[in-house]
Amino acid sequence: MRDTKERFSYTTVCLHWIVGLIIISLLAVGTYMEEFEAYNLYPIHKSIGMLIFVIILGRVAWRLINGWPAPAANYKKWEHNLAVVVHWTLLIGTIIFPISGMIMSGAAGHGLAIFGLEVYPLNPDPLDSSNVIALNETMAGIAHEIHEILGKVFILAIALHIAGALKHHLIDKDGTLRRMLGKKLAS
Ligand code: HEM
Ligand code: HEM
Repeated sequence: MRDTKERFSYTTVCLHWIVGLIIISLLAVGTYMEEFEAYNLYPIHKSIGMLIFVIILGRVAWRLINGWPAPAANYKKWEHNLAVVVHWTLLIGTIIFPISGMIMSGAAGHGLAIFGLEVYPLNPDPLDSSNVIALNETMAGIAHEIHEILGKVFILAIALHIAGALKHHLIDKDGTLRRMLGKKLAS
C-alpha cells in the first residue's frame, strides 16, 4: 500500500520510527563517546550505524518511489517550506552519516567490523601494535569534519522537527502526528 493523504502506509510509519529512534540514539552515543573518549562504545556505534544504513537505503528508496505525502492540513507557506527543507535534510543526512563514518574509520586505519564480523581490517603500526596508522589522513579528517558538523545540523533539525510535530498536535490540533502514528486522518 502507498501513502495517501488520508493514511500513511505501514512501511512509511515503521521505517520512520525505526530509523528515527535509532538515529537519535546514535547521535547521543556518538556525542557521548567522542566527548568522554569512551572507546568501548565505538564498535557498538559503528556496528549499529552500519546495520541501520541498510534500512536507511530502503527508506530513501521507498520515499523516492512513493513520492512525498501530501500535507495533512493547510499549513502556512513558511511552515510548509521549512518542513520540506527539514525533511530533505533528515533524509539525505541519514545517508551521509554512515558513508562519512565508513570513510573516517577506513582512512584513519581503525578498520570496521559489524559486531565482530570484519568489513575491512585495522592498519596496525608494526612498531607499536596498540597504535594504528592512517591510510589517508586528509580523507579521514574531512570525513570526520562532515560527521561532526552533520551531528550539530541534525540536533538542530530534529529539535525543529519535533517542535513542529508537537505544535501541529497540541496547538493546531491537526492530524499530522496522528497520521505518522498510523492513524487515519479523518477519524
Ligand atoms: C548512521 C547514523 C550515525 C549517526 C547519527 C552518527 C552520529 C555520530 C555523532 C553525532 C558523533 C559525534 C561527532 C562529534 O561530536 O565529533 C559520531 C562519532 C563517530 N562516529 Fe558516528 N554516526 C553514525 C554512523 C556511524 C558509522 C556507520 C560509523 C563507522 C562506520 C561511525 C563512526 C563514528 C566514529 C569513529 C566516531 C568518533 C569520532 C571521533 O572520536 O573522533 N558513525 N557519530
Ligand atoms: C520523536 C521524534 C520524532 C517525531 C515526533 C517525528 C514526527 C514526524 C511526523 C509527525 C511526521 C509527518 C510530517 C508530515 O506529515 O508532513 C514526520 C515526518 C518525517 N520525519 Fe519525523 N519525527 C521524529 C523523529 C525523526 C527523526 C530522528 C528523523 C530523522 C531520521 C525523522 C525524519 C522524518 C522524515 C524524513 C519525514 C518525512 C516523511 C517521511 O519521509 O517519512 N523524524 N516525522
